[in-house]
Amino acid sequence: DASGEFHAASQAQPNIALVKYWGKRDAALNLPAVGSISITLDSLWTRTDVRFVPGQKGDRVSLNGRSDEAESRRITACLDLLRQRAAVDWGADVASRNNFPTAAGLASSASGFAALVHAGARALGLQLSDAEQSVLARRCSGSAARSIFGGYVEWAHGRLADGTDSVAQPLLAAESWPLRVAVAITSKAAKQVGSSEGMRRTAQTSPYQSAWVDTQEADLTTARNAILARDFEALALISEYSCLKMHALAMAAQPGLLYWNGATMECMHRVRALRQQGLPVFFTVDAGPQLKAVCEPSAIEEVKAALRDVPGVLDVLDTGLGAGARAISPDA
Ligand code: PMV
Repeated sequence: DASGEFHAASQAQPNIALVKYWGKRDAALNLPAVGSISITLDSLWTRTDVRFVPGQKGDRVSLNGRSDEAESRRITACLDLLRQRAAVDWGADVASRNNFPTAAGLASSASGFAALVHAGARALGLQLSDAEQSVLARRCSGSAARSIFGGYVEWAHGRLADGTDSVAQPLLAAESWPLRVAVAITSKAAKQVGSSEGMRRTAQTSPYQSAWVDTQEADLTTARNAILARDFEALALISEYSCLKMHALAMAAQPGLLYWNGATMECMHRVRALRQQGLPVFFTVDAGPQLKAVCEPSAIEEVKAALRDVPGVLDVLDTGLGAGARAISPDA
């Protein structure tokens, strides 16, 4: 920064996949078995402050004011990629906070690693394009590749073995189709099986793995066209289809992965009932029990009220679509 220190801060928001990523073709590089399409959110955020300290051994990491050994290891591994690029071996002080519950299927790793790569690269004076940041974020957490960008985003499967073309890119700006998202929180517990372990188990044991991979390209085309045409009904159908297909794939692993609880399922029925009544809303669910209801702005109050009414729903958050990772002013 201006005082000659290696210090920067960035904000990034979580994204929610409408056409899901599930499965890796290269675990070390975090290369996906399938492409995916997501929306980046607005009012949920991660803010991350990174300061590299020449001469410091090791990183000191604070997440929401606490230290967490497993998360710190992932953060150090991610910072190592940046240190490698900059040819330095300095330790860093990292302070990161979320304004939403972590590790409960709300993609805190997506916003977290997008913000970390964005801030860390600037702290080291690396001049990285958005695409290069997306590749680095992908290596730290797959879905983080998408949170570098705002609005509607597609993360490409890529063809190259080194993964430099498995990168996200924007499809449509948030302002061009400002849908809203209600997030029904049905559990505040950390999930039992993380996405990497879940994907590994699925690929090794689910008999539906090859069908999943074989049908993804058609789903991506359908969703991309729906987004470019701002065709809500088409996006609703393809999104619920991709979500249920991903969960069916994972449920057929051994032992089967059950990310839903009873309230998650009740919320799905409620959303479908609302749509049958003519309300423009659809659901999606990731590797956790929260349900995300995506709707036209005119429907948001009714959707929130309906989800709040479902037994087992603890809380309903509400967000629009937002921008990609960006600089914020660092803590003093
Ligand atoms: O980014 P990861 O490795 O935590 O995987 C995310 C997987 C899903 O959220 C279930 C789907 C997706 O595309 O985000």
